[in-house]
Amino acid sequence: MKALVTGISGFVGSHMAEFLLQHNVEVTGTIRQRSRMDHIKHLKDIQLVECELRDPFSVEHLIKEIKPDLIFHLAAQSFVPTSWNSPIDTIHNNVAGQVNIMEALRRFDLSCKMQVACSSEEYGHVEPDETPIRETNPLRPLSPYAVSKVAQDYLGYQYYKSYGLPIIVTRTFNHTGPRRGENFVTSNFAKQIAQIEKGKKPPVLQVGNLSAKRDFTDVRDVVRAYWLALEKGTPGETYNIASGSCCTIREMLDLLLSYSNASISIEEDPARLRPSDVEILLGDYTKFHDATGWKPEIPFETTMKDLLQYWRDQ
Ligand code: GDD
Repeated sequence: MKALVTGISGFVGSHMAEFLLQHNVEVTGTIRQRSRMDHIKHLKDIQLVECELRDPFSVEHLIKEIKPDLIFHLAAQSFVPTSWNSPIDTIHNNVAGQVNIMEALRRFDLSCKMQVACSSEEYGHVEPDETPIRETNPLRPLSPYAVSKVAQDYLGYQYYKSYGLPIIVTRTFNHTGPRRGENFVTSNFAKQIAQIEKGKKPPVLQVGNLSAKRDFTDVRDVVRAYWLALEKGTPGETYNIASGSCCTIREMLDLLLSYSNASISIEEDPARLRPSDVEILLGDYTKFHDATGWKPEIPFETTMKDLLQYWRDQ
């Protein structure tokens, strides 16, 4: 069994690779010239291929050479604020990469199963009576990033319907854990705390919007979900991956602070506020549970302790 992981040097990609190796799957991963390699463990057991996914020729060559049985398509520009600074870059990167892969699969008539990492950001504005959010909820995206994920989501559906490609779309709610990029809120706060503890930063923690509510799952539960999505999910279907509970960003921060003895004050940094922020994301993962038996196993407290420890060890 041969799996291709796009974006293997990223946060989720590195955990996906570890999961696959533990399950005796042959792993090939795509990287770009400027990819960080320090996240990838067991480098010697992974075949790394330099590939610019926006380039159709590069992708065609990759698919023809590797002929994977499974594809986990994780590569993306995934930070919401970046998508306001350069919307077209996010849209192009996220959409073109996926289209190039699907076109190559079609061209070589490969029937490999493909998971597409979509996002709860697609739901965007959610009415109070719409939580927990089900897959049937309207999509009201509030950022260029969210729109790029809606496009990826619908392109997956369209290639399944038009050409029969066995594509499974996962709409994952927020996820975190060790190696999470430092821009994302959980990691950003954990890193600030670790730096304050080490005396590398004054004891003031910069924050953005603390009232937003998010549904967090551990990345190690998420990669297990992606595996199950391809093993047991139905092609052409879309599945929420979530914990089924949510907290405010303030509550998440208070949890992190409770693990530290440092005395820390909090300051709002206006640069961290967004033109429009998704108020609440709380997912219903019943459909995915019914299809695969998956449920999250790692408690949020463990995830956040592991994340803080990760930053203390840097
Ligand atoms: N990044 C960041 N930094 N966010 C902050 C901060 C801060 O200092 N302070 C408050 N927040 C708030 C944001 O405004 C947002 O409401 C929430 O914390 C989470 O922000 P992020 O961690 O940046 O994640 P996100 O919810 O925008 O998007 C993440 O989850 C999506 C799934 O719902 C990303 O991982 C996306 O790639 C993913 O698709």
